[in-house]
Parts: sequence; structure tokens; C-alpha cells
Amino acid sequence: MTRKMQIAIDGPASAGKSTVAKLVAKKLDYIYCDTGAMYRAVTYAALKQGVALDDDAALKKMLTNFELKFVPAAPEQLVYVNGEDATQAIRLPEITNQVSLVSAQASVRQEMTAKQQEIAAAGAIVMDGRDIGTTVLPAAEVKIFMVASVHERAVRRYKENISKGIETSMETLEQEISARDYKDSHREISPLTQASDAILLDTTSLNIEEVVEKILYFVKQAQKNEN
Ligand code: CDP
Ligand code: CDP
Repeated sequence: MTRKMQIAIDGPASAGKSTVAKLVAKKLDYIYCDTGAMYRAVTYAALKQGVALDDDAALKKMLTNFELKFVPAAPEQLVYVNGEDATQAIRLPEITNQVSLVSAQASVRQEMTAKQQEIAAAGAIVMDGRDIGTTVLPAAEVKIFMVASVHERAVRRYKENISKGIETSMETLEQEISARDYKDSHREISPLTQASDAILLDTTSLNIEEVVEKILYFVKQAQKNEN
């Protein structure tokens, strides 16, 4: 029997991580964990409770009463924050544009990393985020660092927004993506960075199926090397 593995997919915003990670998990019958949704959920709760997004101590206190539940469902997993369905709300621009403030806070990172490691301990997993290969699952057998040009990522977000009835200019999207890339790559704790043993995968000119195929190939190679 092929050994079950940990697959870590990191990279900047809109590189295609969650779309691809979900499909890879389905193909392999692995658990999928979207760690970005966790930071978004904390941001959502903080905004709702009037907690300052850069106040580490206040966020730490808030997290003592923080309940996060993921329910696998098609087409996307449902996210419950303190009992409330926040699946759609955590994707709103208000959250997207402020989440990097919250994710830079030490207590938040510590708590979320512990939760993610707990989820991964349950079995074979595909986990996507910014620091999975470097910090959360440093022993993952397959590590992918997924990138795409800022322009291509803005195009992808633009199309996604249009399908949801949201119209944002390409210029604004490129600016927002670049700003988030900068914040995520320059924070002090667990910044977005390619693990030394991660495979760099540029998806700028690849469609979703092509990226999934490539990752499944890397998984096969890793399984071969283990045997
Ligand atoms: O889907 P998108 O690329 O817009 O972002 P996401 O994966 O939902 O992550 C939202 C934000 O959470 C990122 O911009 C990071 O600030 C933070 N994040 C993080 O710090 N560490 C992770 N492992 C995952 C996300
Ligand atoms: O999770 P992350 O922010 O990295 O990206 P995503 O939310 O999975 O993907 C952003 C958008 O790009 C989605 O609408 C995907 O359908 C699309 N996408 C694409 O067009 N081509 C790819 N190779 C990967 C994703």
C-alpha cells in the first residue's frame, strides 16, 4: 500500500493554492485544510467584537473564547465562527484587506499553528497557507511553493469576483495583491517564504488541471523515493 503523506502547499495570494489543494486532496482521499480560512475567521471575529486587529494581547484574550468549525461540503467547506456560518463573510474584501494585520500577531500565529498541527495529526493531509512547509509541517514529504505573476493572479481574482457579482478594477486588485504579498513576506514571525526543500511551481501559464497533475506527479515521485 502507498504510504500516506503530508502535502504542504504555500505561496502568495491567488496563486491557486486552495483550488488545487482541494482537488489533490479529493484525488488522493486525503483531508484538506485551508489555513488562510483560519486567519480570516480570527479577523472576522475580531472585527465583530471590536478587538483591534494589531492588539496581540486583546486578540489572545479573544481566542480563549474562540470556536472555529470547518464542515467539509461542496463546492467549498463551511466555516463556523463562534457558532455562526461565516463561510461567505470571511471572503469579503473587508477581511481580505485586513487579515495580514491579524496574521502578523504572535499569539494568533501560535494558536493557529497548534490547531493546524492537531488537524494534521489526524491523518494524511493536504494543507495550504503561507508557512506550512517552513513552520507548521516542516517534515511534510511533499512541499510545493506555488507562485504566479501579480497580473495573472489579479486576472484570476477579477474573474472570481465577477462570478460573485463583485466588480473591482484590475488596477485595484493588483495593488491589493502586491500589498498583501509585501505584508505576508515581511512580517517578523513565519513570513511567507519558500522552504529550502520545497518545489517551486510557477502556475502563471498553467490551468487548474495542469497544476493538479504536476502535484500528483510530485507525490508519486515522493512515494517512490520512500519505498
Ligand atoms: O486565498 P488568499 O490567497 O486570498 O488568502 P488566504 O490563503 O485565505 O490567506 C489569508 C491571509 O491569511 C494571508 O494573506 C496571510 O496573511 C494569512 N495566512 C498566514 O499568515 N499563514 C497561513 N498559513 C495562511 C494564511
Ligand atoms: O488559494 P489561493 O488564494 O492561492 O488561490 P485560489 O483561491 O485557489 O485561486 C484563485 C482563483 O484562481 C480561483 O478562482 C481559481 O479558480 C483560479 N485559478 C486559475 O484560474 N488557474 C489556476 N492554475 C489556479 C487557480
